[in-house]
Amino acid sequence: MKKKVVSLLTVAALSMSMLAGCSSASDTAKEAASTAEEAVSTAEETAADTAESVADAVEETAEEVTDAAAGGDLASKKVGVCIYQFSDNFMTLFRNELENYLVSQGFSKDNITIVDGANDQATQTNQIQNFITSGVDVLIINPVNSSSAATITDLVVAANIPLVYINREPDADEEQRWKDNNWNVCYVGCDARQSGTYQGEIIVDLGKDKVDLNGDGKIQYIMIEGDPENVDAQYRTEFSVKALQDAGWEVDCLDDEVGNWDQATAQQLVANALSAHPETEVVFCNNDAMALGALQSIESAGRTVGTDIYLVGVDALSEALEDVIAGTMTGTVFNDHFSQSHSSADAAINFVNGGTNDYYIGCDYVKVTSENAQQILDSVK
Ligand code: BGC
Repeated sequence: MKKKVVSLLTVAALSMSMLAGCSSASDTAKEAASTAEEAVSTAEETAADTAESVADAVEETAEEVTDAAAGGDLASKKVGVCIYQFSDNFMTLFRNELENYLVSQGFSKDNITIVDGANDQATQTNQIQNFITSGVDVLIINPVNSSSAATITDLVVAANIPLVYINREPDADEEQRWKDNNWNVCYVGCDARQSGTYQGEIIVDLGKDKVDLNGDGKIQYIMIEGDPENVDAQYRTEFSVKALQDAGWEVDCLDDEVGNWDQATAQQLVANALSAHPETEVVFCNNDAMALGALQSIESAGRTVGTDIYLVGVDALSEALEDVIAGTMTGTVFNDHFSQSHSSADAAINFVNGGTNDYYIGCDYVKVTSENAQQILDSVK
């Protein structure tokens, strides 16, 4: 019974918080008031021995209703955003869209603070502590190291600030803790297994005769990985190759190097790998920045994508899409920064308004080849 009262009142609280900023405030207020009345009358039905605790719950929730209504104005709310590294191409698209979307939803630009972790966890942890001290209403965090998530969560939860993780998924044990403790913590991202599978399928769809350039029955490939601590890098590495094997293709890994998501690093690695292994047929890169670096080295080595080598990335950066259209990149996978930034902002707004979120909020990748690259380019511009 107590649960029922509380949940009815939560509905009332939500209605009140949603009306803030709406023009039809009086109608919505009436609805909220009648929902509250229903809740109170439900409370009256409560058996005598639970009456006291129910009354407490009613009082507490009534306070929440008032708070939510008063605080429903997003323009006065403060958001702290921690990005693992500003120089990351994909995270730059993500953070710009995140800021624009937060503003479009009613936050004031002055109350959105986005900081650069400079790829250093100690720096980022310090930034999180500063946000806690200065008193933000919600934090959106792209951790430098996903393995530091438990420490970050403990800090933020102790300060009673809701937390939305983005892009770098904490491990399953960490996510389980949020559930077990009913914490206002969630993760927004895409399942990197899908992006890896799509990379492999782009190659498989070309047909084995075309890809097995030396006709030895195996596909000779090199793999350029992102940060190995990042689950996106691990899954893309594993599932891209798995898609070839699932199609019954034999594979031969000539080199597997860590490019840390970075174009210049990948350029150097691929230059070395191609000179050591001119028999390379496919270059898999965990992201487009590294694929762009790979392409520079492929061209310097006098090779031609689509003719004597194949190259795939992930993200669908505009530059990579232009390459797919031109045929200088075989394909990429659209990592939807619109959907992810909007979902993370929406989750933050739910928390700020006193609501809850699913612990995992996902999105789909999109396979990109010369057939749909122009369409994706038009949609991201
Ligand atoms: C993107 C990479 C980016 C990384 C940052 C990945 O999802 O594909 O381009 O560097 O996230 O964590």
